[in-house]
Amino acid sequence: MQSFELLSQKFAFHFDKAHFPEAPSTLYQPNEYFLKLGGKRVRPVLCLMGNELFDDIREDAWELATAVELFHNFTLIHDDIMDKAPLRRGMQTVHTKYGENTALLAGDVMLVKAYEYLSRIDGDFLKPILHLFNQTAREVCEGQQWDMDYEKQETVHLDEYLRMIELKTSVLLAASLKMGAILGGSGERNQNLLYEFGRKLGIAFQVQDDYLDAFGDPEKFGKQVGGDILANKKTFLLIHALETANAGQLEELKQLIAGNPPDKVEQVLRIFKDCKVDEWAIELKNKYLDEAFQHLDDIAVLSKRKQPLTDLARFLVQREH
Ligand code: IPE
Ligand code: IPE
Ligand code: MG
Ligand code: MG
Ligand code: MG
Repeated sequence: MQSFELLSQKFAFHFDKAHFPEAPSTLYQPNEYFLKLGGKRVRPVLCLMGNELFDDIREDAWELATAVELFHNFTLIHDDIMDKAPLRRGMQTVHTKYGENTALLAGDVMLVKAYEYLSRIDGDFLKPILHLFNQTAREVCEGQQWDMDYEKQETVHLDEYLRMIELKTSVLLAASLKMGAILGGSGERNQNLLYEFGRKLGIAFQVQDDYLDAFGDPEKFGKQVGGDILANKKTFLLIHALETANAGQLEELKQLIAGNPPDKVEQVLRIFKDCKVDEWAIELKNKYLDEAFQHLDDIAVLSKRKQPLTDLARFLVQREH
């Protein structure tokens, strides 16, 4: 059983190379630029851990892991356009550096590249993996659309938010694990338990992401702190504040959302703090992490095989970037 650190090192050995041809460099250089910024590489490692939970890591698991990381990077390039994000991984986003049109196309070709790697998976496993990959990709698009729709919607319920983050974020973590498990020859029951583990973990992961977007350390976070507040994202932070604010705070918050004062981020953060959204964040994360671990417990393999997944899950909900 290999740790997150070891598997991400091994994955980097496979992944850190040029994935695109030279010309046109105006298209491919932006992609190489973005991939070089790295990232945590969580999803490919989840593919590998999903495989290793049941059997030795197969050769084509590295192709699967590569496909998943490329798919993830495609979603980020397009997400940054949608979110008008200036920074990612501590550097300029693709669209701010190379323009929106190039970023669109760079993302598109990254997605195609992901499918090229996917097609190298052994024929016996390709069909179920492709099925799950496609389903997941569709769901991510749906989640991203809800995310944008909610920017314009005045009130969003917590269960709507949870469903949205499940679609935009969780399903890819869950599918990464399950696709790995499929390659590992796991039975259906274990595959589904692993998927549920990933789904719940993914919710806790996005809760932490939303928390860091408001309260993260700009030095470590790598993205623009307060970006979600500026975009009127309906995160659990805002939902909780709207639910618990007193009459005065509520009026202030509504005005801040409706307008765009220069100190919007600071003002909203102050109300968030007064409404103790940080305590709620911990509660919410722990609830989903606990549920995730229950599914992991139910998987019928020796518990020591599950250790790397347990460690990774704990890291993901406490991460600072
Ligand atoms: C960012 O994912 C997008 C979300 C779903 C929150 P990561 O936090 O895994 O991004 P990188 O790849 O490590 O930069
Ligand atoms: C992004 O959610 C989810 C996907 C990229 C599909 P966010 O918009 O919160 O991710 P970050 O914060 O930009 O990484
Ligand atoms: Mg974003
Ligand atoms: Mg987004
Ligand atoms: Mg975010």
